[in-house]
Amino acid sequence: PSVAVIVVAAGSGSRLGHAVPKAFVPLQMRPLLERALDSIFRMREAVQIIVVAPSDRLTDARGIAAQVAARHEAPVSPNRPASGPAAPPSRTVTIVGGGRTRQDSVDRGMSALIPSIDIVLVHDAARALTPAALCDEVVAAVRSTGHGIIPGLPLVDTIKRIANSGAILGTVDRSELSAVQTPQGFPRSMLAEAHTWAAQNGRFEALTDDAALVADAGLPVSVIPGHQLAFKITTPEDLERAELILQAALG
Ligand code: C5P
Repeated sequence: PSVAVIVVAAGSGSRLGHAVPKAFVPLQMRPLLERALDSIFRMREAVQIIVVAPSDRLTDARGIAAQVAARHEAPVSPNRPASGPAAPPSRTVTIVGGGRTRQDSVDRGMSALIPSIDIVLVHDAARALTPAALCDEVVAAVRSTGHGIIPGLPLVDTIKRIANSGAILGTVDRSELSAVQTPQGFPRSMLAEAHTWAAQNGRFEALTDDAALVADAGLPVSVIPGHQLAFKITTPEDLERAELILQAALG
């Protein structure tokens, strides 16, 4: 494959209020990580998948990946006609242990990239309902532009800049804003350069996503339309929203 997806799943997710780390919290019987991987397995082309899991959960993560892989395996039929449905593209899943911050975790994921990869997507396991089509669109846009590409949605609320007291300091021009999501895609060399730059300049703590690292290093990043289903599950209310969406989809 020439595309890799690094799925960061090593956060504790304390805001969700569960005893287990967020990626392992069940959503309609299946852990968030399993749901996220399920979408990635539906991507159009072959990809290397790297799961960055909490270091004490590597076995669990391996089990979840194996389950998803089994579900997506081509039906084994010795006499499948040559003109029959194409076998799904091949996937390899590598599991690595995460770091203290999200960027540390991405770094560890990058160290597992195989040589053939030239486009890297970084995706939050917490965005468990992200459609595969959004991942495909990010890959296509990175390929056609050679830029970093991130999905984003326009803001619906009016945004105020406020003081600690609550006093309103001003209204932000909403048309200039985008609420960005993952997967964030980059040419591999660009992401590697941005991470090296950030490490050398002590920028890791200040920048919370890969697009910010890449832009900070002076490299081009653009936004494409995101998807409502790519929302991040952070609070118990987000989890409830995801449950309701799945229930509605099942009729
Ligand atoms: O905590 P938050 O929801 O912002 O984390 C975003 C994503 O980054 C989650 O999928 C989480 O598992 C991941 N993460 C990580 N390693 C960390 C912190 C967060 O992989 N140290």
